[in-house]
Amino acid sequence: MENKVIVYGASGHGKVIIDILQKNNVSIHAVIDDNPNCESILGLKVHRPSDLDFSEKYQMILSIGNNEIRKKLSLQLHQIDYTNAFHPKAIISNHAVINPGTVVMAGAIVNAGAVIGKHVIINTSAIVEHDCVISDFVHISPNASLAGGVQIGEGTQVGLGASVIQNVKIGKWAVIGAGAVVINDVPDFAVMVGIPAKSIKFHTNE
Ligand SMILES: CC(C)(COP(=O)(O)OP(=O)(O)OC[C@H]1O[C@@H](n2cnc3c(N)ncnc32)[C@H](O)[C@@H]1OP(=O)(O)O)[C@@H](O)C(=O)NCCC(=O)NCCS
Repeated sequence: MENKVIVYGASGHGKVIIDILQKNNVSIHAVIDDNPNCESILGLKVHRPSDLDFSEKYQMILSIGNNEIRKKLSLQLHQIDYTNAFHPKAIISNHAVINPGTVVMAGAIVNAGAVIGKHVIINTSAIVEHDCVISDFVHISPNASLAGGVQIGEGTQVGLGASVIQNVKIGKWAVIGAGAVVINDVPDFAVMVGIPAKSIKFHTNE
């Protein structure tokens, strides 16, 4: 039976995921979005979630850049079979583990021994070195680099071009600012900027 892949989220991030699926010759069954004003994306019609019969067998990717919203939707749609989107120019070790719903963009590298959770975004040219452990709903932004053995808690965003030295542990729902260099462990919910990265505030929400 042919897989029916649904892309949920007609955003800029959704465009990148549609492009990856098309490059891999995956047929996209439908693109859906809650926004009634969103009618098409990259020449594909955008449907409303209510147009779908969720009792049918689909595979889905949540193409939503916001980590909290991605988590919320995945909890609502927990019965769905999630798939991955790996750009053909991403380099993923055969010795890495990548869980369902996770996407890996062009030029990204995921090295041996890395374990990546569900619904994670490894964005363009990001580097996830050997033995990193990345929890669910994390976003590693374009050009960010994680050295070997870095651990990242649920929902954290590592910003554009940030670097994290080896074996650092970053908590959950933290934000590492663009260009930061993280040399020490980071607590949950911390917002870190600069070189070396220092906390400027803490989120109160997830
Ligand atoms: C860190 C970040 C989340 C802070 O955003 P914010 O909460 O809106 O904070 P503000 O813009 O109010 O900035 C607060 C202070 O931190 C400084 N700051 C913000 N981001 C910074 C960064 N990346 N590096 C250094 N300093 C930074 C600001 O200059 C400001 O300093 P001031 O108080 O002395 O004026 C945001 O700037 C950032 O870097 N986000 C990552 C974006 C990204 O990588 N996107 C990828 C999309 S794929």
